[in-house]
Amino acid sequence: MRVIAIVNQKGGCGKTTTTVNLAGCLADEGASVLVADLDPQAHATLALGVDPESLDENLYEVLADPEEGPCLDDVVLPIHERLHVAPSGVILAALEQRLADDHPEARTRRLAEALAGVQRRYDYTLIDCPPNLGILTLNALRAADEIIVPLETSHFSIQGAHKVLETIAVLADHVGQDPTVRVLPTLYDGRTRFARDTLAEIREVFGDLCFDTVIRTNVTLREAARRGVPIVRMRRSANGAHDYMALAAEVAASEADLSEAREIVVEFRDPHAVDVRIAGSFNGWIPDRGVESMTSGDGEARVWRKVLHLEPGEYQYRYVVDGEWRPDPTNPNTVPGGQGPPASRLVVR
Ligand SMILES: Nc1ncnc2c1ncn2[C@@H]1O[C@H](COP(=O)(O)OP(=O)(O)OP(=O)(O)O)[C@@H](O)[C@H]1O
Ligand SMILES: [Mg+2]
Repeated sequence: MRVIAIVNQKGGCGKTTTTVNLAGCLADEGASVLVADLDPQAHATLALGVDPESLDENLYEVLADPEEGPCLDDVVLPIHERLHVAPSGVILAALEQRLADDHPEARTRRLAEALAGVQRRYDYTLIDCPPNLGILTLNALRAADEIIVPLETSHFSIQGAHKVLETIAVLADHVGQDPTVRVLPTLYDGRTRFARDTLAEIREVFGDLCFDTVIRTNVTLREAARRGVPIVRMRRSANGAHDYMALAAEVAASEADLSEAREIVVEFRDPHAVDVRIAGSFNGWIPDRGVESMTSGDGEARVWRKVLHLEPGEYQYRYVVDGEWRPDPTNPNTVPGGQGPPASRLVVR
């Protein structure tokens, strides 16, 4: 089972729309999919046609009391044969308080433990997160091997996006995880210059971490949410259905890619440096994220070794030496860096 969390603390960027419609498309392509609705607003539950108010039990009871409460299976509802939902309800907002006295490590593990019991039954679990970084999102980060971060192309700042990714990386690390993080441009209106520029900037900065698929603004997505069905089951010919089908195909294909990753070791030498990190298009330009780091030798002989796991493709990177960004001095292959210093280029075949 692949567990994918849809995360962004910013509200209204398309998390729920992505969770529900990616789930709908993966299921229509033959996968069995569970949607775990971790947002007390219960928008994903509603968008799958379930009224949260009509339920006696939801994810809250499962997560609040693993000993005495119901197990995940007891609260899961079938939407159709291959698409199920673990519903939310407004009470989920009380989980943080309920678990306040628990061990800090145990309280972020609740969802991961609940999912362990159902992993044989599903090919995918997609987790819809609330727009904040509280206990619910920590549970999602703990449970997920992969993260999708929707980035709204209609209101966007690259600094904001960096901050979001950095925060997710720090929190995932905090709960002992090192997930694959990918960004998904959403709410794209190609008629506006702003959206076109934003998309180009996202692609440039995030490189291979950005999906090829772009989710366009499409009113049918809103209508499908209101009617409580994934868009593929309502109007397969709509742009929104095409876009989420394309995303589903990319997500399904990335499983194969993951196994093609190569181990690449790069070395940096500088007798005066104290702290050396590496940042590039492979880790969202977040220094040392997802990188195994080793040092050896002293003085002149001091060497920093960075082990990268990269799929075939083309990457850019820089070293961050005591906070200063520099190209790799041993790599003659560089590309101009816009405002900053040049970046080094690396091709993995
Ligand atoms: N591609 C799209 N085209 C048109 N409308 C969209 C699209 N994506 C999302 N929306 C609409 O924008 C609003 C916000 O989307 P959504 O609920 O998916 O965001 P969210 O990130 O889950 O928000 P929250 O942070 O509140 O949970 C919703 O009304 C949704 O129907
Ligand atoms: Mg939402």
